[in-house]
Amino acid sequence: MPLVTMRQLLDEAARGGYGVGAFNVNNLEQVQAIMEAARETGSPVIIQASRGARKYANDRFLYHLMEAATEVYPEIPVALHQDHGNSPETCESAIELGFTSVMMDGSLMEDAKTPADFEYNVRVTREVVEMAHERGVTVEGELGTLGGIEDDVGSGEVHLTEPDQAVEFVERTGVDALAVAIGTSHGAYKFTKEPDREVLAMHIIEEINRRLPTTHLVMHGSSSVPRELVDLINRYGGEIRPTWGVPVREIQEGIKYGVRKINVDTDLRLAATGAIRRAFAEDPSEYDPRYYLTPAREAMKGIVKARMEEFGQAGHAGNYEPISLGDMAVRYREKGHLLTTT
Ligand code: 13P
Repeated sequence: MPLVTMRQLLDEAARGGYGVGAFNVNNLEQVQAIMEAARETGSPVIIQASRGARKYANDRFLYHLMEAATEVYPEIPVALHQDHGNSPETCESAIELGFTSVMMDGSLMEDAKTPADFEYNVRVTREVVEMAHERGVTVEGELGTLGGIEDDVGSGEVHLTEPDQAVEFVERTGVDALAVAIGTSHGAYKFTKEPDREVLAMHIIEEINRRLPTTHLVMHGSSSVPRELVDLINRYGGEIRPTWGVPVREIQEGIKYGVRKINVDTDLRLAATGAIRRAFAEDPSEYDPRYYLTPAREAMKGIVKARMEEFGQAGHAGNYEPISLGDMAVRYREKGHLLTTT
């Protein structure tokens, strides 16, 4: 089937009461690992590319990799999403390329580092909503800022989302999905000890869901940083410092309160790095990249499959009759931006 919109995936997920993993890609092996995991678990999936990924892979290569994914896995509903768009221009270029969903991250200024004020965020996000919905494309906004810096994105400061502002933000912008800041951060170093509810502010999700029950919520920085992957990397010469990620059980708790999109990048990076380090150590005479990229791809597939089962999206690939971008555009025109369908 053709790429579907993220809005359709999230509406279906809301109906079914599950979450959908949004996995980042930069190259062939990551796309293959995610699609194969989706096939083996029968899952709908969101594949996302940051600006850094678009630069690394080159837009045309990335787009055609995704086109190949829809050809080779025709039974899997997949949305292609721009992760952390820093400006309306970035989002527009993604839409022109064929992305079916974009994130306008107006929580930061265009440099993707300086925290922006609320009015700026509303203005740029609304601009993207107008432009994207006219073409049927989904929009994710962000309110509050995450910690950490990854792919050159992030202020390094955490500003938790305020539930009152979230209501005003959604009403004024018309976003399809809202990324909330609850104390997570991008990358491997999220928490210095197992996170409790003091540092991982799950109550914010509950509060926002109470006030905005039909808004799809997004958890960024949701890698769990599994101990066994960190240990594997370090056993074969890596130097990952002691660290904790977001426990899967907390994500599952969020799913009960309206979290529909869960962003995972770091866990795939860790899985690939561990497998490659082990392959290098086990046979230093090997020099064929397939020798180490094959186990890397398998390791990424393994972690994605586990998350698909845990988030509840497994088994739901067959529920979709894809809605075209044209039909989505008509729905937004007729029902308004918020398009309450759940
Ligand atoms: P992780 O670094 O926790 O995988 O988060 C990825 C992310 O939120 C991408 O936007």
